[in-house]
Amino acid sequence: MFFVHHRQVMLNQLFAKKTLDNLVHEMAGEHRLHRALGPLALTAMGVGAIIGAGIFVLVGKAAHHTAGPALMLSFVVAGVACVFAALCYAEFASMAPVAGSAYTYAYMTLGELFAWIIGWDLVLEYAVGAATVAHGWSSYLRDLLKANQIELPLLIREAPIKLDDAGHYTTTGSVLDGLALAVVVVMTTILVLGIRESARFNATMVVLKVAIVLFVICVGSWWIDTANWHPFAPYGYSGLSFFGHTILGQEGELGKPVGMLAGASIIFFAYIGFDAISTQAEEARNPKRDLPIGIIASLLICTVLYIAMAAVITGMVRYDEIDVDAPVSDAFGKIGLDWAQSMIAVGAVAGITSVLLVMMLSQPRVLLAMARDGLLPSGFFAAIHPRFKTPWKSTILTGIVVGAMGSLLPIDILSELVNIGTLLAFAIVCAAVMVMRKTDPDAPRPFRAPLVPLVPVMGILFCLVLMFSLPWENWLRLALWLAVGLVIYFSYGRFHSRLRHQLTHEIATHGVSPAGMPVDEP
Ligand code: ALA
Repeated sequence: MFFVHHRQVMLNQLFAKKTLDNLVHEMAGEHRLHRALGPLALTAMGVGAIIGAGIFVLVGKAAHHTAGPALMLSFVVAGVACVFAALCYAEFASMAPVAGSAYTYAYMTLGELFAWIIGWDLVLEYAVGAATVAHGWSSYLRDLLKANQIELPLLIREAPIKLDDAGHYTTTGSVLDGLALAVVVVMTTILVLGIRESARFNATMVVLKVAIVLFVICVGSWWIDTANWHPFAPYGYSGLSFFGHTILGQEGELGKPVGMLAGASIIFFAYIGFDAISTQAEEARNPKRDLPIGIIASLLICTVLYIAMAAVITGMVRYDEIDVDAPVSDAFGKIGLDWAQSMIAVGAVAGITSVLLVMMLSQPRVLLAMARDGLLPSGFFAAIHPRFKTPWKSTILTGIVVGAMGSLLPIDILSELVNIGTLLAFAIVCAAVMVMRKTDPDAPRPFRAPLVPLVPVMGILFCLVLMFSLPWENWLRLALWLAVGLVIYFSYGRFHSRLRHQLTHEIATHGVSPAGMPVDEP
């Protein structure tokens, strides 16, 4: 009898879903966060999470080696993909304003196993993303210091290995990237101290970096030489590969896809972050109205700014002369505006800092949601600090992981891994919107994504195209990452899941699971 029940519980558990009622009920429970954020603060959080290493750093590599001036179109394509995904995120965020973001949405629609996969995948987006950003932050600051004749000791100058121009990994002679580690320690401390303080710090940084971006667009546009936009797409308009085989467009060094689409898959990183707002749902004062506003407004603002920035940078400097480390400030150096170069470098460092803050803020909140469901140890991951009201233990753990990865690993591997993981999460959220419309058509949706199923289907297609425009090794890394996640789920989460305990109880007493699945006769 025990074994029969055990098998039934397990089968039902993998696909068991949380209901909206479950979620609303949980909102009244313990481990609650403090509601402090309004629509402006949420939009600022979004902009704070979005504008960063992507536009200040990766844009150089994307323009120089991958897309040329057609990078403007790359920004349009990546932006459109994100708008589709953002509309789906906004619908879910308004329905279920709890901290877990895509993880929670998957739990509601696709069941526990998918939820776990998404939650685990979000670590790629937030923690590995934060490590990437810390890395970029450090290289920008290092350049700034170098321009002022300050050089760090070799031992703590950069990560111990990096990709050289020929595409090989070489040792750098350093032990770790001291600046990356230092910034992560400072951010972790700020985050443990509290969300209100974090929002205030973020708002200051956001104002500064938006001012710098506007400065670049306004002043830089005077220096555009339209001759630099010819040829417009030196690498072509595509760049698709299928597990290592180029199926559309040109091949660059080491057989990597190049072209406008391949450029979009790199600078997709620049858009990541709008979805981070949904992880702050519990701290929003009026989440049903303000989350969709925050998500969509921040994405639209950044899309417009990015396309303008790409036009300005590729117009100021010929694409094959654009710097790959500090492309924006370097463009101003090239036209002789040295004062502007330093000012932009300072703004970029500040801008990248706020991205780091939001990413490191989002990761513990997803872990918190997973811990509340029993998929991770709740004594640790759901612990809220009595005074600061922040998930302090998991914030510190996040800081340790981000600090280690950001100071030890090469940025290329980190950033591509973040992109593929985030694209997968976006595609699953788009799919989940369609599923939820079918399974629960009458649930209150304060915000409805328009034109369903067209919008989510287009979202999924755009995400897949961008995933296939990334070098194929990323698929392998993603698969390995997910495999590790499944091992953890099947050895811990499956046994401790709160839903599992409900299922066991329900099946024992009524013969029906909470997910509404009748139990097979043994
Ligand atoms: N969008 C963020 C950045 O560009 C991740 O840094």
